[in-house]
Amino acid sequence: MNDPKTMLFDELVAALGADAVLTGAAVQERATSWIDPTPLQALAIVRPRTTAEVATVLRLCHAARQPVVAYGGGTNLVSATRTTLQDLALSLERMAAVVEVDVASQTMTVQAGAPLQHVQEAATGHGLFFPLDLAARGSATIGGCIAMNAGGVRVLCYGMMRELVLGLETVLADGTVLSSRNAMLKNNAGYDLKQLFIGSEGTLGVVTQAVLRLFPAPRTHIAALLAMNEFAQVTALLPLLQRDLGGALASFEVMWNDYYRLTTTPPAPGKPPLAQEYAYYVLVEALGGSEHYDRQRFEAALDHAAHEGLFDDAVIAHTAQQRADLWRIREDSEQIERQHHLTFGYDVSLPIGEMEEYVEDVRSGVELHFGEQARCWVYGHLGDGNLHINVWAPQLQPEDADRMAQIVYRPLAALGGSISAEHGIGLDKKAYLSLCRTPQEIATMRLLKRALDPHNILNPGKIFDLETSAA
Ligand code: LAC
Ligand code: ZN
Repeated sequence: MNDPKTMLFDELVAALGADAVLTGAAVQERATSWIDPTPLQALAIVRPRTTAEVATVLRLCHAARQPVVAYGGGTNLVSATRTTLQDLALSLERMAAVVEVDVASQTMTVQAGAPLQHVQEAATGHGLFFPLDLAARGSATIGGCIAMNAGGVRVLCYGMMRELVLGLETVLADGTVLSSRNAMLKNNAGYDLKQLFIGSEGTLGVVTQAVLRLFPAPRTHIAALLAMNEFAQVTALLPLLQRDLGGALASFEVMWNDYYRLTTTPPAPGKPPLAQEYAYYVLVEALGGSEHYDRQRFEAALDHAAHEGLFDDAVIAHTAQQRADLWRIREDSEQIERQHHLTFGYDVSLPIGEMEEYVEDVRSGVELHFGEQARCWVYGHLGDGNLHINVWAPQLQPEDADRMAQIVYRPLAALGGSISAEHGIGLDKKAYLSLCRTPQEIATMRLLKRALDPHNILNPGKIFDLETSAA
């Protein structure tokens, strides 16, 4: 009768209503995540409707020492929202409204559960633009993008999520509501607390609402796919296009040959707009305000690059459909796991000038340890110094994860790179955090965690463990 879990349930139901607390089959009929269809494991799912209700949930859980894992669209790639049967899953699905679009100040106030694509469309509906974009836009929520500091395909021009959040409402572990409705570009009045929560993967607070920075909607999106055989062409192309396009270059995405082949060969739906023989393919996109002038400038920039010998073949999209087809080739990374089970995926950053050699090192390391039939698919946001690497080998087992990670991660320390450019740490990468963060940095992370969440109830065990002194 006085079982603490039963008491907590009763209190949650009393405060939020019975329909806000799901248990049993209602929990299990949900999938663990976008990429893991197994039934969700959780003590219960709580679905608050307001920030005040989130505060109530956390206040009760803080008192009961109940672990809480906030989750959104379940699209993160590092098990950042993985729950156990001991965890309360806190879903923001009923807090998904666009609260306000302020056209004059170019800002949007939005609740955390809104899918990224709704945010993009709401901005477009007002002649404005929310530039963050990634393949999971239909499912990923804005709260999840904030908690994970999402990156995506326009970081080169607009920055990661961190640069796009002006104000943030967060609920702390004890139920305190920390509300910054800041909608100004400039506000240096003391610590910028919101930055603590952006990218903290739900370990320091639960994001409930945000004020986002918007931009004038571009009138033109001009995309082209370029192919070349030398990596030096890729690295020289980036600054040339940045200069010649006068800051309009929003995306500079690269695909190594294997990835391009995979996403342009059946059963993948994509078709190859350029021959499949080149070593590298670069998808570039420029945004602008003048249909006539932008295309001229874009073509002149490509002419300049051709004159400098920076690519061997190219195709420019002339219709929205052609542009979507080019993007699908880049975004269809699902093909990897669909066609080759089991694969491991990595998300690293390193200086662009080191990438060619690094990828060769990784490839030869993988072949040395896992056989000549091993495959590496390399692609990503080259303009951001960010590569995604997926690997597969015959007979690869889950137990090989650590050996593979060592091959991919070991060279990064000497290069000043990171084991996570944009996907975060979650559970999957936490054993490797110390490869790119100093002991002092990790100790400071623990200090912040202990200060803000003294009972360790918020997404416990993600990013790092509190108990051990090792990372
Ligand atoms: C991408 C995801 C994997 O860039 O981050 O396609
Ligand atoms: Zn990416």
